[in-house]
Amino acid sequence: MGFNNWARFECDLNQTLFTETAESMVKRGLQDAGYDRLNLDDCWLQHARSANGSLQWNTTLFPQGLPWLARFAHTRGFHLGIYEDSGNQTCGGYPGSYGHEQQDAETFASWGIDYLKLDGCNVYPEQGRTIGQEYHIRYHKWHEVLSAMAQPLIFSESAPAYFLGNDTAWSKVMDWIPFNGELARHSDDIIVYSGAGSPWKSVMSNYHYSTLLVRYQQPGYYNDPDFLIPDHPRLSADEKRSQFALWASLGAPLIISAYIPGLSDDEIKFLSNKDLIAVDQDPLAQQAALVTRDADFDVLSRTLANGDRVVTVLNRGDHTAETTVSLDRMGLVSGCGFKAKDLVSGEETKVNKALHVRLASHATSVHRLTPPRNCGAIIPTGMVFGTNS
Ligand code: GLA
Ligand code: GLA
Repeated sequence: MGFNNWARFECDLNQTLFTETAESMVKRGLQDAGYDRLNLDDCWLQHARSANGSLQWNTTLFPQGLPWLARFAHTRGFHLGIYEDSGNQTCGGYPGSYGHEQQDAETFASWGIDYLKLDGCNVYPEQGRTIGQEYHIRYHKWHEVLSAMAQPLIFSESAPAYFLGNDTAWSKVMDWIPFNGELARHSDDIIVYSGAGSPWKSVMSNYHYSTLLVRYQQPGYYNDPDFLIPDHPRLSADEKRSQFALWASLGAPLIISAYIPGLSDDEIKFLSNKDLIAVDQDPLAQQAALVTRDADFDVLSRTLANGDRVVTVLNRGDHTAETTVSLDRMGLVSGCGFKAKDLVSGEETKVNKALHVRLASHATSVHRLTPPRNCGAIIPTGMVFGTNS
């Protein structure tokens, strides 16, 4: 959970953006809610390495330097993360890390950085290798370098995003991804603030690709559908809340790319929703799986570490609509119903046979179902042995 400059500011980053963002995250309660990472994206670099081959930060953008920024972050309770690329150059055309993996990892650690987003632009296969093998070799090399460190950096991989559109190649990459890093970007860039096109389509597209990768997520590895964009000018209020509710249901990284001091109180409030953050961060690390889809509604579900069940309902349609979710059909059996909390509205009810949900266009509700004590347990889908009263 944290902040990254890319979707909101792209290459327009500097020291002040990060110090102001940090101060604002503290003041507005985002840090208390769990957002404790400040991640630099592309364009922080100089165009040349130093005489001894090490990477150098842009001294105009970061006059006091990245070690200073890391100390600033640490004294305020944040971690500092950075961006590099496994190829010859970053996507923005700055020096890539290919052939410099060990040196760059040591440089980052010496600056006080503990998180690396490693992109996959400008990767060209060495002779005799396929492009799929090349990415595997490079990300595995980084995995080995990072694993051997006294304090390994968190490793955010980008390889799957470079195989999107080729289902066979994409799933082949996913087979090794969870064993080499803690999270991975699997789809296109979420639309940037300055970008043309529909931000809701972009949110729905990345959400869709996450739903295809449920089985890969596990404690220690998370599918990354890219940044939260709560101040995108062309997302409606319901769409912004939906992105957050869906990302939390997926157990996705919650990395905000927005101008934090400019967020409305309402935006800060839904980004700080404790119940949804608890679902996002649940130690079982399940990703909500798509249970049903009809013309309007997606229904997703996941189990939490304490045995509670989460049911998420998204109205993809263009109008307010109603739907009914049968608990039996989801393998939920209880002698005397469930306590049901709507984690978006905070409303608590009791549910026996079905959830009845009415949602505005593009709105999402998330329901946490708890079996009342001494009254039967939740039986996981596929394991319904009969009544359980
Ligand atoms: C790629 C990544 C983005 C961002 C840019 C930076 O497009 O997917 O998230 O890091 O590069 O150039
Ligand atoms: C250069 C590049 C490498 C690779 C080879 C291929 O050396 O730096 O990444 O693409 O060419 O011949």
